[in-house]
Amino acid sequence: MSATHSDAVAATGLRKSFGTELVLDGIDLAVPAGSIFALLGPNGAGKTTSVHILTTLMPADGGTVRIAGHDLADEPDAARRAIGVTGQFSAVDNLLTGEENLLLMADLLHLDRVEGRRRAAELLERFDLVDAAGRAPATYSGGMRRKLDLAMTLIGDPQVIFLDEPTTGLDPRTRRMMWDAIRGLAAGGVTIFLTTQYLEEADELADRIALLDQGRIVAEGTATELKRMIPGGHISVRFTDPRALDAAAGVFGRARRDDDALTLEIPADGGVGSLRAVLDGLDAVRVQPDELTVHSPDLDDVFLSLTGRAGAPEKEAVR
Ligand SMILES: Nc1ncnc2c1ncn2[C@@H]1O[C@H](COP(=O)(O)OP(=O)(O)OP(=O)(O)O)[C@@H](O)[C@H]1O
Ligand SMILES: [Mg+2]
Repeated sequence: MSATHSDAVAATGLRKSFGTELVLDGIDLAVPAGSIFALLGPNGAGKTTSVHILTTLMPADGGTVRIAGHDLADEPDAARRAIGVTGQFSAVDNLLTGEENLLLMADLLHLDRVEGRRRAAELLERFDLVDAAGRAPATYSGGMRRKLDLAMTLIGDPQVIFLDEPTTGLDPRTRRMMWDAIRGLAAGGVTIFLTTQYLEEADELADRIALLDQGRIVAEGTATELKRMIPGGHISVRFTDPRALDAAAGVFGRARRDDDALTLEIPADGGVGSLRAVLDGLDAVRVQPDELTVHSPDLDDVFLSLTGRAGAPEKEAVR
């Protein structure tokens, strides 16, 4: 992955240690303007550290970063003006109302008063927070706080937005709402750099994904490219009796058979052609499958095969 001038985020050789703990061991990142990029990694991989460095909240020990064409070392203020950050932990002030939080942020960004009020009203509308605008965020649900957080990030109209685990802890409906908001921003030309532990989230949203593990980028590409890096696709066929299993096993030499479960796992790319070939093969020996499932490799498989561990904590089970 080599950085070009049209990249909204370009980092090379980023290094960071805390004491003796090496957290980033020379990572390169390039995010084209207007695209969505996901930095994916398990707890403690260094995602938040990366976001802090890229957004000037923390200095790196080594490496270079350019944001919207501005080198962080030479032009930190210009870079900062292009950036919006929604941290992993809410930046919302509980003593102010939702609306006051937005207006405070507008003030901090030196927005004109009238413009600040206009933007705040527009964002409250957009995130369905109009009714809650006069209440303190302490009375909000987690999803509402997250939306207020994102609205606060957007009030300065940033070109490049960093979202550190934007949907962790949200229910499925609110998560989808957040995904739609993120897609809408990218469609409007904003560059999105998000971190996530959820493979599904990276798969849904990101144009490109980088897998961070133990301080290094272990894989980078589109979801499709990453899935293609590993085998694991198969069609699993279950039978009702051992004789049927025997007959079918004779047809598919490369299949893995499980005599207890009465199943055959036939390596396949998951496409329609491979499914037809399996059904034709079974027909030829007059065997009816009891159940048939197609397993396409997913990002979970990629993560597991590249790191030797499962990705998200709730997906510990190994298939
Ligand atoms: N300020 C700090 N001082 C010392 N160690 C730190 C500091 N910040 C992070 N670390 C360590 O750096 C490593 C990476 O932390 P980081 O917060 O970047 O991980 P993460 O990928 O964001 O994890 P999570 O998914 O849990 O948010 C961890 O081992 C953490 O303990
Ligand atoms: Mg983090």
